[in-house]
Amino acid sequence: MKKIQVSPSILAADFSQLGNEIKRLEEGGADLIHVDVMDGHFVPNLTIGPPVIKALKKKSKILFDVHLMISPVHKYIEDYSNAGADIITIHPEATNNLKSSILKIKELNKKAGVSLNPETNIDVILNELDKIDLILIMSVNPGFGGQKFMPEVLSKIKQLKEIQSQKGLDFDIEIDGGINFENCSLAKKAGANILVSGSTVFKENSGNLKKNIGLLRSS
Ligand code: DX5
Ligand code: ZN
Repeated sequence: MKKIQVSPSILAADFSQLGNEIKRLEEGGADLIHVDVMDGHFVPNLTIGPPVIKALKKKSKILFDVHLMISPVHKYIEDYSNAGADIITIHPEATNNLKSSILKIKELNKKAGVSLNPETNIDVILNELDKIDLILIMSVNPGFGGQKFMPEVLSKIKQLKEIQSQKGLDFDIEIDGGINFENCSLAKKAGANILVSGSTVFKENSGNLKKNIGLLRSS
């Protein structure tokens, strides 16, 4: 079994203090830093882009797990790679050629992730599974932090785990959206090995990041 990792989303951090927030996450034991990139077009919200990621990357040695909710995504992949993304995750709906976008990420020597919205079926990635390093299962509709977890997406994780063992593949399964201390165990039991969390990590227990990251990992 893969080690459980926690990838806190800086969407819930204090945006006026992002550099310090990254340092606090590192001290709190975060395994990855989840960066939500939104364009106000693919999703109805706008966040940060490559210059901010580049500046933040200098503050930390932790791998940056960059979730691109932008469309068309293909032409921007290189910019996010150059900015310091270690994992680049894209949505199939945001590219007209999923295979070539995955290969582009791999050519840049980054880990390639593909994210499935709650209504997106796993069929769209079945032909590319051997090239994918990480599958990000959205447990909310992308666009905003603080939404309610949708338990129905757990069946996709179970399906992916079965296919993974049948085919002898090794991709990570990450879950993103509304993760808290109760539902994190369901996600792990289904087969997720990376938990994204914004609100729970930054807001629970008076913002005690170390405690919250530890609880998500062990609950
Ligand atoms: C939603 C983002 C998530 C979100 C997680 O579009 O992809 O990463 O910020 O935040 P919480 O944990 O608050 O749902
Ligand atoms: Zn995300």
